[in-house]
Amino acid sequence: MKTKLRNIVADFPILQQQVNGKPLVYLDNGASSQKPQMVIDAITKYYSEINANIHRGVHTLSQKATDAYEDSRQKLQAHFNAKHSYEILFTKGTTDAINLVASSFTTLLNAGDEIIISHLEHHSNIVPWQMLCERTGAVLKVIPMDENGELLMKTYEDLLSDKTKIVAVNHVSNALGTINPIEEIITLAHQYNTAVLIDGAQATPHIKPDVQALNCDFYVCSAHKMCGPTGVGMLYGKEEWLNKLPPYQGGGEMIKEVSFEKTTYAELPHKFEAGTPNIAGGIVFGTAIDYMNTIGFDYIKQQEEMLLQYATEELLKIEGLQIIGTATQKASVISFNLKNIHPYDVGVIVDKLGVAVRTGHHCTQPIMSFYNIAGTVRASFMFYNTKNDVDVLVSAVKRAQIMLS
Ligand code: ALA
Repeated sequence: MKTKLRNIVADFPILQQQVNGKPLVYLDNGASSQKPQMVIDAITKYYSEINANIHRGVHTLSQKATDAYEDSRQKLQAHFNAKHSYEILFTKGTTDAINLVASSFTTLLNAGDEIIISHLEHHSNIVPWQMLCERTGAVLKVIPMDENGELLMKTYEDLLSDKTKIVAVNHVSNALGTINPIEEIITLAHQYNTAVLIDGAQATPHIKPDVQALNCDFYVCSAHKMCGPTGVGMLYGKEEWLNKLPPYQGGGEMIKEVSFEKTTYAELPHKFEAGTPNIAGGIVFGTAIDYMNTIGFDYIKQQEEMLLQYATEELLKIEGLQIIGTATQKASVISFNLKNIHPYDVGVIVDKLGVAVRTGHHCTQPIMSFYNIAGTVRASFMFYNTKNDVDVLVSAVKRAQIMLS
């Protein structure tokens, strides 16, 4: 494992500032990560040097932009270990990728077919499937969870049947940090020839998934949670599935031939990439992945496990503080509440002390209903956070508790 001799925080210009007169402690990484100078420079370089539309022009700039975009696709292929680069589709983000799959599945489902999700899902991995059920008459089934925020795998096994057509679960829960047993979830589903989509939005900033080893059918994530730009994400789909599914959107670039009588569709990946994409975003997604690999996922795991353990221990020393989500396997996410204090009020006060956290239901209202709470305060850590950030958080929470009691 590489030892970090250099100061990683120095890579992030935004982290050098003060907020409300205090040094910024950014602990809202689950919502969006910060961007290193290498990523910021790559965006500037794209617009300063090669900006042009892709896959269209014979001119030099268009060729350069196309090559950079396709190079990035190959970087994603290598990073996630997809078999083919055309199994990597660029999307607007995780939500867009899930909507693509859910929309394209419309033609494959019949009334009475079943879709399985889990109680731990973000709204973006619930609503598109409910909409699919409305369109087709399919039925949504939900894997329940326990008090720790872990899925009840025995019930999952019981839910699976020949009627199950797709299972869609997250790799890591954004609200609680639970790392789900996706290998087991995928293996069990495949006994029924069911497709499995893994929502990796909260996993890919911390873990390097190998989609072939996992044997998932779809894996989706967003660049902005991985030190990259907003508005771009990835849908990995196995070739056989992407060939089976009809296109999501019609338009330029996704066609082979168009006449008023009939249109034929382009080969993968273009069949699913209608219109001018977020070209800079797609290219710089690759740069962000390069950056994360220079840090190294072994180091990321080691640093984040240290932060999770230290922050958990220190927060639990605060009387009246309860951590929501105590799964055995957790990413560096801590949701908590202070007794008799609304999470929003805690968020406002710690912000005045320079600490950025997310408060509320985290787009997971069913999880909040399970615990019968309005929301939580959520601190979510990245590899560039430090023990000092934890100390500042803990003292800000203590201050909030005194002020609000
Ligand atoms: N899904 C993001 C979060 O958990 C926005 O904050």
